[in-house]
Amino acid sequence: MSLTCPLCHGALIPVEKSYRCSKGHSFDLAREGYLSLLHGRQKGEGRGDSKAMMLARDRVHRAGVFDPLVSALAALPFETPPRTLLELGCGEGFFLGHMAKSHGIATSYGLDLSVDAVKLSARTLKQSLILRADLLQALPFADGSLDLVQSIFAPRPLAEIKRVLRPGGYALFVYPQGDHWQELRAFLPLAGIGEDKLPANLEGFAATASLHVTEKLALPHAVLVDLVEMSPSIHRLTREGTPWQTLLPASLAATLSLRLALFRKDRNSDLQPPVLSRINA
Ligand SMILES: C[S@@+](CC[C@H](N)C(=O)[O-])C[C@H]1O[C@@H](n2cnc3c(N)ncnc32)[C@H](O)[C@@H]1O
Repeated sequence: MSLTCPLCHGALIPVEKSYRCSKGHSFDLAREGYLSLLHGRQKGEGRGDSKAMMLARDRVHRAGVFDPLVSALAALPFETPPRTLLELGCGEGFFLGHMAKSHGIATSYGLDLSVDAVKLSARTLKQSLILRADLLQALPFADGSLDLVQSIFAPRPLAEIKRVLRPGGYALFVYPQGDHWQELRAFLPLAGIGEDKLPANLEGFAATASLHVTEKLALPHAVLVDLVEMSPSIHRLTREGTPWQTLLPASLAATLSLRLALFRKDRNSDLQPPVLSRINA
């Protein structure tokens, strides 16, 4: 078992409808099936994506908008097939479910801070254990315990990802490119997409694959509305009272443009440096 207690970092073991560590810390499975590892003041904090954003993203996925990414993920060349998977910021679990299924991954975890995300993903992904936790804190996994960690349109805590991956394990990142949905920006002042912040070389990792997934898609008004609704820009547009739905066209040919980057953790990166004998003692 690779899950660890967020309070003492000891192993968490399933006991009936909860998970417990040897120090007696206990975390209950929610009615919907997810495990909340939030504790103390973290509890009840309503951060992460809202329910409206989650439902809009679900409709976009059902409309097949991200199918080119699903196909690219399914075709990823893993030299050693992963048997354990963690998705950070899994949202409603769309890509987590596809990755686990297409690569035959037996043990999978989804982690998200949003209560609506974990409720939705736990309801749809019965084979995965869904965790409510903050990915910006220490990840609730033992050192070197996972084969694959993925972050798709979500934050990337690199030091923690490296810690929880086993030597030779994979880190997978998907993030938008500068021209992603650029045609939509002609109609609405959406937040800009930053420069590609992920370096080609990550210390302790070898770059294994880097793909540009791009396609021009004909999108109807309803999908354009959902793309805005699921983006962080929705908060500002709503706050400013912009009548943004009416500014969108009836349909639009828009560019999907994403980078998919796969890294492999160095096989000997967890080895301790040799202890040098003291010759001048
Ligand atoms: C843009 S969504 C991507 C969801 C999913 N990976 C997908 O592509 O469909 C980003 C997700 O990260 C989650 N998130 C943001 N900050 C987080 C944090 N500090 N800890 C855990 N999850 C977080 C949000 O709640 C949201 O579900």
